[in-house]
Amino acid sequence: MFTQLAERRERVAAALGLNDGILLIGAGSPVPLPENTDQTYSFRAHSEFFYVTGLECPGAIVAFDPQDGLRAGWRLFVPEVTEAESVWEAREQAAGEPLAALPAWITLRRHRPMAQLGDPFPGAYADQALTARVREAFTHARRPKDALEIATMRRAAAATAAGYVRATAILAPGITERAVQIELEAEFFRHGASRTGYDSIVGTGPNSAVLHFEPTSRVAREGEFVLIDAGAEVDRYVIDVTRTYVAGAPSPFQRDLHQAVLAAQEKAIGRCVAGAEWRDVHMKSAADLCAGLVSMGLMRGSPESLVEQEAHLLFFPHGLGHLVGLGVRDASGTLPGRPRSTRPSLKSLRLDLPLAPGYVVTVEPGLYFIPALLNDPVRRDRFRQVVAWEKVDALAGIGGVRIEDNVLVTSGAPEVLTSAIPKALQQQPVNPRPPSAK
Ligand code: GLY
Ligand code: MN
Ligand code: MN
Repeated sequence: MFTQLAERRERVAAALGLNDGILLIGAGSPVPLPENTDQTYSFRAHSEFFYVTGLECPGAIVAFDPQDGLRAGWRLFVPEVTEAESVWEAREQAAGEPLAALPAWITLRRHRPMAQLGDPFPGAYADQALTARVREAFTHARRPKDALEIATMRRAAAATAAGYVRATAILAPGITERAVQIELEAEFFRHGASRTGYDSIVGTGPNSAVLHFEPTSRVAREGEFVLIDAGAEVDRYVIDVTRTYVAGAPSPFQRDLHQAVLAAQEKAIGRCVAGAEWRDVHMKSAADLCAGLVSMGLMRGSPESLVEQEAHLLFFPHGLGHLVGLGVRDASGTLPGRPRSTRPSLKSLRLDLPLAPGYVVTVEPGLYFIPALLNDPVRRDRFRQVVAWEKVDALAGIGGVRIEDNVLVTSGAPEVLTSAIPKALQQQPVNPRPPSAK
């Protein structure tokens, strides 16, 4: 086993405070497709299992008994590979103790409370309150990335950057969302990606305002926004980047909107320092975005009072970001013991805690013209004084702008892992010529 994994297990074990409790962490099993075929969704071990093993081993269980030592107390139990698995998947026997020996390990400890993380082991009792407490502590312990994780994320960031180079080389009026997706993802794979980190988002024109849009055969017209939110995954570690471009030449308004988001994003990145409360970083960005809308004549009032009234939610309806790494949402959530806020401007935050060295957060402000929000009569009435509705209505269908980077919090200045991907809005194509992919 890697030294890194042994250190990781020891650090997590110390953070769990199990005392006489014991712990099982299950990898999980492949999930069959619903059509009653013999196929399954592609298998991914539960992140809690993967974090302490680095293995994609269906059916495996890691067991931990703190009384056997913070390092020596970890045991890996693996199922025996069947002939069918060897024939159909070339699955190889993983190193570890036979899964059949796990019930005896549990029986020896039957009077002790047990927590279960990952995918629960069928038939084994788990103390629910202990499990909830241990999950919270485990999640918190894995928030700071270790050197191996950061190195893997740098590889994913390099593959992602290569994809964006290709996407921007072909971006021009006349290209479809699908063509951009194909070129972007192919380049991720050519540069070492094992998967995409999540379903790539490519939205042209009005589709750029759909937060989780799936690319279609729609063609980007001259002067339309093209929003790309995509990232490569390498060895289970994910990068999550957004850039917004214009097919053809940007209009002055598009430049202003893009600049307002970019200015807010760069300020927010600068605030990603150890000890900063993420909710404060988010709220300050909301005010920065409102300041941009005020300077464009789309909102009226002081940015702080607009945020106080929650008027920013009309144009910036999501949180500023989340942790990213082992999965696109990684170990996001709240600080142990902190309940989720119910305030409208905070309840969509996927993260509510003070930042610490080693955390990798996405910083992804956006400004969008979303019909479902802007055409709502209740909101129009509530915010009739502070929004220049005639100007906003004239922008219907323009879409939106989001800019997203992945930021490593350190004990000093934040480091942008995705800084190789340019953010400036420029004419697309940069050297006008016919698009090479349709
Ligand atoms: N990539 C999806 C998101 O940032 O939420
Ligand atoms: Mn994203
Ligand atoms: Mn994101």
